[in-house]
Amino acid sequence: MTTQDTFRGRTVVVTGGAGGLGTAMVAAFCARGATVVSADLSASDQAASVGGVIERRLDVTSEESWAALLDFVDSELNGIDVLVNNAGIYRPNIPFEDMPLDLWRQHFAINSDGVFLGCKHAILRMKARGTGGSIVNMGSGLSITANPDGAAYCGSKAAVLMTTRTAARAAGKYGVRVNAVLPGAVPTDMLMGNKLDGESDGDFLAKMEAYSPLGRLATPEDIAAAVLFLADPANKAVSGVFIPVDGGNIPGA
Ligand SMILES: NC(=O)c1ccc[n+]([C@@H]2O[C@H](COP(=O)([O-])OP(=O)(O)OC[C@H]3O[C@@H](n4cnc5c(N)ncnc54)[C@H](O)[C@@H]3O)[C@@H](O)[C@H]2O)c1
Repeated sequence: MTTQDTFRGRTVVVTGGAGGLGTAMVAAFCARGATVVSADLSASDQAASVGGVIERRLDVTSEESWAALLDFVDSELNGIDVLVNNAGIYRPNIPFEDMPLDLWRQHFAINSDGVFLGCKHAILRMKARGTGGSIVNMGSGLSITANPDGAAYCGSKAAVLMTTRTAARAAGKYGVRVNAVLPGAVPTDMLMGNKLDGESDGDFLAKMEAYSPLGRLATPEDIAAAVLFLADPANKAVSGVFIPVDGGNIPGA
């Protein structure tokens, strides 16, 4: 088997597959032979094959939506082998004491409930199939770093880490591994949403780069490489851990 074949014959679901990081993950799994479902709120209810990728709508906050997606994967694609819980939102630059409760809850619904539901339903399907599997959850440097102007995001991403560990302990007996990746700043639409009023793209990105001891930001491909490492069946003893991918900046990691 060559590196290019690592995921041949395996079905991979990437949530938030239409976003900045998700697109790179989808491409990386495809390049290694996987059958890839890009599941995103922005996709159509009807599955469509686009450039070799199956695109299908998923709302990660809805248990019914998860069941419908995984029914499709079971009936059409021989079941799920790898799930990447990557969908997420971030509304930054809101002082802690001004955070509206509905916005707090929206972060938890998508970032935390979405990851919980993905883990729960993937584990149920993998357990039923009896062939094991791998789940990779997308945390953030802000899972373990307090940003007072991003409290809802920090709290909801901290929950991703404990959900990763509890799911790993629950699912190990079914041969299912559960791990997380903690990206630092990666230039996507989500990151650029952090710019302050009047700040140029160049000034903002230079500020972000200065946080990184390596002097550069991680790329979406760098994040995808860590996801593929954790999903790779060769790393069969790795479960319940998180990998920061941020150039060495995350405190405490
Ligand atoms: N870009 C960064 O700097 C960075 C840093 C740390 C962590 N992350 C995390 O990486 C993940 C991807 O981020 P990104 O930068 O690609 O963001 P992005 O905004 O480019 O993509 C997010 C995707 O999630 C989808 N989505 C949102 N709500 C959804 C829902 N309810 N159901 C299904 N899909 C939904 C969106 O449609 C979008 O395609 C997120 O979990 C984010 O928190 C990103």
